Amino acid sequence: MVRAGVFKTYTVSEGETRRLGQRLGRRLAPGAIVALKGDLGAGKTVFAAGILKGLGASGPFRSPTFTLVWEHQGRGTMIHHVDLYRLEADDVITDLPWDRLLDTGSVCLIEWADKLPRGFLPKRTIDVTIERMNAARRRLVFWRQAGDIPTL
Ligand SMILES: Nc1ncnc2c1ncn2[C@@H]1O[C@H](COP(=O)(O)OP(=O)(O)OP(=O)(O)O)[C@@H](O)[C@H]1O
Ligand SMILES: [Mg+2]
Repeated sequence: MVRAGVFKTYTVSEGETRRLGQRLGRRLAPGAIVALKGDLGAGKTVFAAGILKGLGASGPFRSPTFTLVWEHQGRGTMIHHVDLYRLEADDVITDLPWDRLLDTGSVCLIEWADKLPRGFLPKRTIDVTIERMNAARRRLVFWRQAGDIPTL
């Protein structure tokens, strides 16, 4: 079952966000790209850790902030977990091996994807914007330009 267009939901705890990520991860196949957007502390890394777990990767999952890219081996697919936070806008394209990261043979999770120029990521990318409503409540908006969003 899939939904086209936009899908919005709320979570009220870190665990709930992680489990939502895990459900998405279980449905992703090689070639999937997830663009995570939202402010500091929104929950991008929590959600990404859930996706990694759902894909069968084993932790610990840290934020890749200080390494730019973490590689994980999942069940049947390699996963690249990228964090663009520390990069200047001018370096976001040049400092990373995008051809390899976005290859259809692996899954790519991108934190701070809003730093990329509009239209840079392939249309199959699943966009996930996380908004902090209060200490525990988060609003998650899923959007995909081409293709459906898995029902979570
Ligand atoms: N509903 C929720 N979902 C996710 N995280 C939550 C929620 N409620 C509270 N939190 C807390 O919010 C924080 C989210 O941190 P996380 O590192 O995932 O954010 P981030 O978006 O990756 O930030 P950064 O841009 O700094 O990397 C954690 O401390 C977590 O415990
Ligand atoms: Mg993070």
